[in-house]
Amino acid sequence: MGGLVTGGCRVLDRLVVLGQGYVGLPLAMRAVEVGFDVVGFDLDDVKIGGLARGRTHVDDISDADVVAALATGRYLPTMAICDMAAFDVAVIAVPTPLLEGAPDLSFIQSAGQMVAGHVRRGCTVVLESTTYPGTTEEVLAPILERGSGLTAGRDFHLGYSPERVDPGNRTWNFRTTPKVVSGVNETSCQAVQQFYDQLVLCTVPVRGTREAELTKLLENTFRHVNIALVNELAQHSFALGIDIWEVISAASSKPFGFMPFYPGPGVGGHCLPIDPSYLSWKIERQLGNTSRFVEIANDINEHMPAYVVQRVMLGLNQRHKPVNGSRVLILGLAYKQNSSDARETPARQVVEQFLALGADVVVHDTHVDRHPLDDRAARVPLTTEQLTNADVVVLVTDHDDVDYGAVTEHASYVFDTRNRLRADCVEHM
Ligand SMILES: NC(=O)c1ccc[n+]([C@@H]2O[C@H](COP(=O)([O-])OP(=O)(O)OC[C@H]3O[C@@H](n4cnc5c(N)ncnc54)[C@H](O)[C@@H]3O)[C@@H](O)[C@H]2O)c1
Repeated sequence: MGGLVTGGCRVLDRLVVLGQGYVGLPLAMRAVEVGFDVVGFDLDDVKIGGLARGRTHVDDISDADVVAALATGRYLPTMAICDMAAFDVAVIAVPTPLLEGAPDLSFIQSAGQMVAGHVRRGCTVVLESTTYPGTTEEVLAPILERGSGLTAGRDFHLGYSPERVDPGNRTWNFRTTPKVVSGVNETSCQAVQQFYDQLVLCTVPVRGTREAELTKLLENTFRHVNIALVNELAQHSFALGIDIWEVISAASSKPFGFMPFYPGPGVGGHCLPIDPSYLSWKIERQLGNTSRFVEIANDINEHMPAYVVQRVMLGLNQRHKPVNGSRVLILGLAYKQNSSDARETPARQVVEQFLALGADVVVHDTHVDRHPLDDRAARVPLTTEQLTNADVVVLVTDHDDVDYGAVTEHASYVFDTRNRLRADCVEHM
């Protein structure tokens, strides 16, 4: 690596981060903090324009963090490919969505093409996007080699390091969360590890890029499957007249061999509903086998919004009200508590299904700016009038800054998918 050695122990390089989203921006900020010269490259002019003016678009990064990074003179948010020139390390953190149920690697491919022209001898390229095993070596390496005329592992280092960012988690942040690192060969792995050792407290090298890629998919599939397990159990427990929340709480008293997961209205965000399908696609494509756990978990978790609507219909029925024409106030649009991230949020399906049944739907969420919903579902402030007018308040995402005292005081019926509220008017999922 061709960086500047400082104090005899730290190598500060010129870093390019492709993608300044939930993953790329915190990485860029941390790298500036420890002394790197950082080019934050993205194709989204709104994000780059905002960053250049000191505006964040990621929950865990504040405007002050961006302003401080800009003030060092070592952070350049940009859309210009030429700004990548002369990098020592490039990290690719671009989206990996599904397209008609199959992995869509087009963002990785285009990012690879953009960076390839600037790959030099001795530099390091790391992929962080979540993807199926084999992507780094089978998809990214050929693009970088074609564009640079160099060979990965011999002329430049290439590796994969999955991101584990947990938005809103104050204990486990970018610096404190151990980071799995890998390379296409041993020297690449060492280069990747040397880079991340400057940013995080602990790096965990693994044998190869496929092991690192599968590590990320295992972590997310583990959560996906366990959430599906409690989601299914929640439905059976309700039918049996058993309080699932108390069951999970009691099981959590076991000091070993149990980890609590909680039922909810479904899974959302960029990871859980998508990543396990990268795994099942790869297994089916390469081995001709099905990934039964993933399929069952998908089936159960995707059904949860419909289950929420069904339970609310039952609750309204008990109150002699049809869902058609009832006023439904949805609390929380984000897929996760205290987050503004509404990607793949199950709230969207809950809203759409109530609308399809003829309900009069209104929505409250102070965290989510961009409206990801049908225009018929108006955004409303959480006023006494809105609460008393609602035939049911459905708590989909329990942000901390909501006045829940007012909710239980003024609402006549609350359906709580998160086990957050305690009052006579509250029914838990
Ligand atoms: N968000 C999370 O919590 C999380 C956690 C772990 C892993 N991941 C994975 O990390 C990857 C990125 O996720 P994210 O949440 O940061 O997505 P994001 O949408 O927040 O950010 C990705 C950014 O990449 C930009 N982009 C697209 N093509 C580009 C290109 N060719 N060059 C430069 N920028 C480009 C987009 O404009 C966007 O701003 C995904 O594979 C995701 O699965 C996400």
